[in-house]
Amino acid sequence: MNNNDLDHLAIIMDGNGRWALDKGLDRTAGHAAGEHSLSKTIDWAIKNNIKWLTVYAFSTENWLRSDEEVEYLMFFNRDILIRRRDEFNQKGVRFRFLGDLTDEKIPDENKELMRETENLTQKNTELNLNFAFNYGSHDEIHNAVLNLHNLNLNKKLTLKDIKDSFINYFQYPEVPFPDLLLRTAGESRISNFLLYQLSYTELLFIEDLWPDINADILDDVLLEFNSRNRTYGKN
Ligand code: IPE
Ligand code: IPE
Ligand code: MG
Repeated sequence: MNNNDLDHLAIIMDGNGRWALDKGLDRTAGHAAGEHSLSKTIDWAIKNNIKWLTVYAFSTENWLRSDEEVEYLMFFNRDILIRRRDEFNQKGVRFRFLGDLTDEKIPDENKELMRETENLTQKNTELNLNFAFNYGSHDEIHNAVLNLHNLNLNKKLTLKDIKDSFINYFQYPEVPFPDLLLRTAGESRISNFLLYQLSYTELLFIEDLWPDINADILDDVLLEFNSRNRTYGKN
């Protein structure tokens, strides 16, 4: 046992649709069931003194889903904030919404709630919850390049300047890189999530569907992470 320090856990919460279809339900019922898994994961992270949790809730590619499902997901993400943000606030959770919130496809009410929730929870320190919504890693990297390019028009940057400051042009430069990426539901891919930040992250793909996640499964995830030997290129 190595007892690695799990400071930042990132999760691709996948398998909601399959969970619902397996039960003969509409795909959207799987998203609704996933809310309990998120809530359990937040409690588990607080209990295990994990300071950063980044969850993938809606990707830049998820706009390609049916109009009904996209509409449901917009409604659902709004509804969670309306119903539960006071509870999360009382637990000491600080929200950051990772992704392009200026996108005109996102309903104004969602945008307003997300900004309000960030403001409401900004002093909390128990758990930093990064909620990736309309997030895509390509977008994030392209925006960083564009910002650096604009800066470079006035000020000639050296390659060293660019390397040293590149990450400062990401949306939240203060967020540490993840120690562990967990993806549920058996797919072994990254799906445009945190490509730059995952360079030395441990990856774990499990078969359980997101709505089935509970503290026992997460305890096993932690055990597996602790057994990993993180060498960072050294021997
Ligand atoms: C993940 O579950 C939730 C979102 C992408 C919003 P899916 O909806 O991708 O579920 P599957 O992969 O189709 O089972
Ligand atoms: C990734 O899951 C996005 C989220 C979990 C929000 P998807 O189900 O959308 O990804 P693919 O289609 O399997 O790559
Ligand atoms: Mg999926």
